[in-house]
Amino acid sequence: MNTLKLSGEVGIRAAAKLLQNDEVVAIPTETVYGLAANALSQTAVEKIFKAKGRPQDNPLIVHINSYKMLDILTKNVPLNARKLMDEFWPGELTIVLNKRKIVPRGISKNLDTVAVRFPSHKIAIELINCSQLPLAAPSANISGKPSPTNAHHVARDMDGKISAILDGGECQFGLESTVIDMTKVPPILLRPGKITKEQIEGVIGKILVDKSITELISNSEKVSSPGMKYKHYAPNARVTVVTGNPTETAGYIKQHANLSDGILCFDEFFDFFSQPDKRKLGSEFDINAQAKNLFSALRDFDDTDVSHIFAQCPSDDGVGLAVANRLKKSSGFNVVSL
Ligand code: TXA
Ligand code: MG
Repeated sequence: MNTLKLSGEVGIRAAAKLLQNDEVVAIPTETVYGLAANALSQTAVEKIFKAKGRPQDNPLIVHINSYKMLDILTKNVPLNARKLMDEFWPGELTIVLNKRKIVPRGISKNLDTVAVRFPSHKIAIELINCSQLPLAAPSANISGKPSPTNAHHVARDMDGKISAILDGGECQFGLESTVIDMTKVPPILLRPGKITKEQIEGVIGKILVDKSITELISNSEKVSSPGMKYKHYAPNARVTVVTGNPTETAGYIKQHANLSDGILCFDEFFDFFSQPDKRKLGSEFDINAQAKNLFSALRDFDDTDVSHIFAQCPSDDGVGLAVANRLKKSSGFNVVSL
């Protein structure tokens, strides 16, 4: 299949046509690029799974741009979920709600729920408007790889497998949205992101954090979010994540890494390492820079010969929980805690 490269207003209109014809188009959002298709078409949704090589039991997020669309997809929306929407939509928050029958089985799999997000990215919103469709969109990577944060990353994984890539430049945030299950009492944070646990608790009070965010879940354990059990964000090389005080983690890595290993470090420690394959994660004091750089840096290592990467890791506070979660998952929870 020839994958069209689209951009601008003309690109949005062409992408909307393709989506109306049940085709798959990669689209920019403020978090990461998504692999979009008509969420109400089982045929279209199946194409997403094929292009990504996504495990069949992993449900998809549906992207909307109005509360009218929300009402078509969901029912019995709790008051606290409405409060979160008022506070954080449009934006980087995905809310799991009770679904209506109209949601095809390809979206929710065997669950009674559907995950919904109202993105803030101008192009994503315009595309939903122009196509008049709710859009199913997982991250636009091959299953298991780091999510793409620019059109070039998407092309690497998806060229020849989807109808088009709509280029909207770099994603602002760089990690996937926060996912919270609002059908449970208390609600459960399933994936950390830009909208932090602390921010959510500021609006609706105490929530639980799913175990899979901070530890490895074995295949036999029941997980709240099917996607959590799969290996994620993995570069080709093995990853060792080192947590703790940055000066100490840098010292540990210096002591244990070979010259041929890859290093992913805070900017402040870049000159401290002599390995040729080193990358900056961002300043140790700038968690948003770390979020923006992480996936791109992990992908960069795939262009090198390194077989082992050592990574410094931020603490779990605020957005740090999201960066640390993606890093730990990329390592299969191969974590050294100092
Ligand atoms: O930022 C994002 O959320 C990006 C952009 C494109 O919007 N999308 C994204 O989708 O990250 P995906 O498919 O890569 O991640 C969706 C996560 C998966 O872990 C999936 O298992 C979980 O959400 N999920 C989807 N529907 C669910 C449901 N009904 N209940 C529990 N978890 C669900
Ligand atoms: Mg994903």
